[in-house]
Amino acid sequence: MPHLLTSALPYANGPLHLGHLAGAYLPADIYARYLRLMGKDVLWVCGSDEHGAAITLRAKKEGIDPKQIIDKYHELNKRSFAALGISFDYYHRTSEPLHHETSQDFFRTLDKKGDEFIVRSTEQYYDPEFKQFLADRYIKGTCPRCGYDQAYGDQCENCGSDLSPTELIDPVSVLSGAKPELRETKHWYFDLSRHEEFLRTWIQEGTIDGAQQHDPRNWKKHVIGQCMSWLNEGLQPRAITRDLDWGISVPHPEAEGKVLYVWFDAPIGYISSTKQWCLENGRDWKDYWQNPDTELIHFIGKDNIVFHCLIFPAMLRAHGDYVLPKNVPANQFLNFEGDKFSKSRGWGIELHEYVEQFEDFPNGEDALRWALIRNLPEQQDADFTWDGFTEYYDKDLADKLGNFFNRVTVLTHKYFDGAVPEPEEAGDGAQVTSRIQEAATSIGSHIEAFRFKDAATTFVELATYGNTYLQDAAPWTLAKTDPEDPRIATIIYNCNQIAAALALLAHPFVPLVSAKLRTVLQQEVATNGDWAALRDRLESGKPLLEPGHAIGKAGVLFPKIVDRKDDRLLTLIQQQRDKLTAALERRDAEQAAQPITPKTTNLPEMKPEISFDDFTKLDLRTATILSAEPIKKSNKLLHLTIDLGDQQRSVVSGIAKHFDADALAGQQVVVVTNLAPRKMAGALSEAMILMAEDGEGKLQFVAPPAGFGNGWTVR
Ligand code: 2FM
Ligand code: ZN
Repeated sequence: MPHLLTSALPYANGPLHLGHLAGAYLPADIYARYLRLMGKDVLWVCGSDEHGAAITLRAKKEGIDPKQIIDKYHELNKRSFAALGISFDYYHRTSEPLHHETSQDFFRTLDKKGDEFIVRSTEQYYDPEFKQFLADRYIKGTCPRCGYDQAYGDQCENCGSDLSPTELIDPVSVLSGAKPELRETKHWYFDLSRHEEFLRTWIQEGTIDGAQQHDPRNWKKHVIGQCMSWLNEGLQPRAITRDLDWGISVPHPEAEGKVLYVWFDAPIGYISSTKQWCLENGRDWKDYWQNPDTELIHFIGKDNIVFHCLIFPAMLRAHGDYVLPKNVPANQFLNFEGDKFSKSRGWGIELHEYVEQFEDFPNGEDALRWALIRNLPEQQDADFTWDGFTEYYDKDLADKLGNFFNRVTVLTHKYFDGAVPEPEEAGDGAQVTSRIQEAATSIGSHIEAFRFKDAATTFVELATYGNTYLQDAAPWTLAKTDPEDPRIATIIYNCNQIAAALALLAHPFVPLVSAKLRTVLQQEVATNGDWAALRDRLESGKPLLEPGHAIGKAGVLFPKIVDRKDDRLLTLIQQQRDKLTAALERRDAEQAAQPITPKTTNLPEMKPEISFDDFTKLDLRTATILSAEPIKKSNKLLHLTIDLGDQQRSVVSGIAKHFDADALAGQQVVVVTNLAPRKMAGALSEAMILMAEDGEGKLQFVAPPAGFGNGWTVR
């Protein structure tokens, strides 16, 4: 059964940051590496998304050709991925002729079907100065849903609404800054509404034409939730052509000067990337895309759900012959030190920056991978912090894994000249083997179910088990009483088996660490089929390392970050922290210079429907503020301590401009207690206070009735 994996094609108009890596690439890499170790037929494709208005706009702004931009960022992103061990089988480009042909063929096929497309003439905004229609990002205005005044013609980045240019209030051309005029133009629309019922059944029941294709219980709830909210609103025909001069020409005699909409051609990029790999590797691309046995998985971030779960599947279905994804395990977003990544605010770190700056730090690639894996935004948004980075490295890789290897190799050399000893027959080998077996199976099941964080936790638990086993068995004590005690050999033999398992099972997560550990054990770097072989050996009672096998010495494999004195790594982390403090100061200075702008008295648009289950996930409680202090680094935030009845918590709240800190002690509030804690401006926030905001932007506490105790629930 072929496994076809795709990761969202990143736009080649800028560098990628850690949030991108944690969203669509690192999880896919773990999955791909695991499947390869299981000996599966895996093809993982990706590439640069090189069309779209963001690229041409940037080129216009910089007065250069779009080609210069895409060439630069295609190379930069490809290199950064490679440096971080992201093991795509192919990283293609949507500017390649093969992709243009594939997309045009796709269009022609749908066009020939007769009823998939609707051709409509409509009035669209036009910039007479630049002689250009203004699609998508070429036009800005006020969002009709949330009032944000910098919304684009295709999307409001403030509230996430999908928009069309004619919905914007007070639209202006991004090119000339002028108010655009309306002119008539013709476009091709993909009639998504024809596929609505098919998509609803497929998403809700996992069936295609009555046959079970997947089990919807295996899909993430937030993915299904987003799809259902689109479906419940009713799917509309979507324009798939644009009046632009950058993109793939629409292959139709009446479409001169028009190009395919970037979101029509981008997912077809998965197909052309597959074709290119197949051409270079003597395979047939249809064995992947047109084979009912293929297990197609799209790895994406949550902003791409609608395209991968509704629109692209409808396109594939309309075309016919193609397989549909078995799962789309979209991730939520990763924040950075308590806030969104933002290039303009200097908040975050880009992949190439990390690679360049942390280049000489031993295991730098894997340190980053590991910190991200331990904190992946699988079910909810997560937060990357430098403290977390240090802690995960030190506690897991240094204290648990590195320490275990050091002790095992030292003892093997001390008592057995560096060769794995022969165990006693009646020892506790079976018990150790079954513990290893259990870990390998459980890690595999977690990975197969896209629970990469759980897989990593289970991996660490095996290292903990190794340390505890060795500590409890204490061969050094036995050796003092009787150096010939056969139990010593058994213990060292068992520890070598655990070490061998860890060295291999580490591979999907931290491939370089795995290679290092395997080198210590004098084994080759992990390769295709090795996990399956490990499983078979364990099942048939064969050792992972045979008695007599010579191993090397580990030494200190992962020196702890916190123990390092005058280390460049600590300096680099400190520099990164200083950069963030400077960004915060800049932001505060900007905010102080601008009075709070009163909001319109229009009521904001209601948010999309959520399920009752989503609602019950919130843990809301009554609490009382015990103390409040301003935070030096920020003029917006207060640091509060609240009483939750059975515990006190620290809370950072953005209410400094609305309340005097000295007057808050004793204020009763309602708080959300189960948001993941995050650090803001150096202080930990472990709950969120509910506030009501009036039409002028003024905040008031949502207080429980007088006499209510602390920690009581609100529902
Ligand atoms: O959101 C993005 O970055 C898009 N370039 C993703 C495209 S995914 C796929 F369809 F190609
Ligand atoms: Zn909005």
